[in-house]
Amino acid sequence: MLKVVGIYGSPRKGGNTDLLLDSALKGCQEQGDDIKKVYVRDLDIAGCSGCDGCAKTGICVIKDDMQDIHTLIDDADVIVLSSPIFFYGVTSQVKALIDRGQAMWWRRRGGKDSKTKIDTTRGRGFLIAVGATRGKNLFECAKLTARYFFDALGMSFEGGCFFRGIESIGAVKEHPEALQQAHDLCKK
Ligand SMILES: Cc1cc2nc3c(=O)[nH]c(=O)nc-3n(C[C@H](O)[C@H](O)[C@H](O)COP(=O)(O)O)c2cc1C
Repeated sequence: MLKVVGIYGSPRKGGNTDLLLDSALKGCQEQGDDIKKVYVRDLDIAGCSGCDGCAKTGICVIKDDMQDIHTLIDDADVIVLSSPIFFYGVTSQVKALIDRGQAMWWRRRGGKDSKTKIDTTRGRGFLIAVGATRGKNLFECAKLTARYFFDALGMSFEGGCFFRGIESIGAVKEHPEALQQAHDLCKK
């Protein structure tokens, strides 16, 4: 049984990325995976202060809801991150969580003087993203951010589901094929 953590990155409850991630996690549940859900909008996660404290200890000095997320993530085999595109990137709430992943990166690397190369085989990461417009590069920034987030966690970035032209709350319901694609995202 795989442990799957879904990270809901939109500030909008019941929005398009919420619905798509619900569908992806339903698909995981149907194949017997253990599911945990994280709603970033409900959490108190400060941005990284860049103090370098974690470079020595592998532990973040800021005490907020990120401690619980570190534990969940450490335990996960699969992470599915969802975010709407805000100004061509992930939401600021997601970015704060990602930046705080720096502690996990140092922990895996084993401190500043270590030559250890990060192993990215302990798990797999997926991204679900939605934007209102249709530009060719709409998801490029979010994909790069996700790639290096998963890299820091020791996970490979496996791509995901990306949908253009979806704007109002719940508009993705008019695209059953998108919901189906999300449902099948983590099929073994
Ligand atoms: C602050 C803000 C910035 C946005 N920036 C972009 C953007 O750069 N490109 C785009 O295509 N859509 C942009 N959008 C539209 C959202 O990506 C779109 O409405 C999406 O469906 C919202 O997903 P959600 O319902 O999961 O929150 C933006 C929306 C907001 C509120």
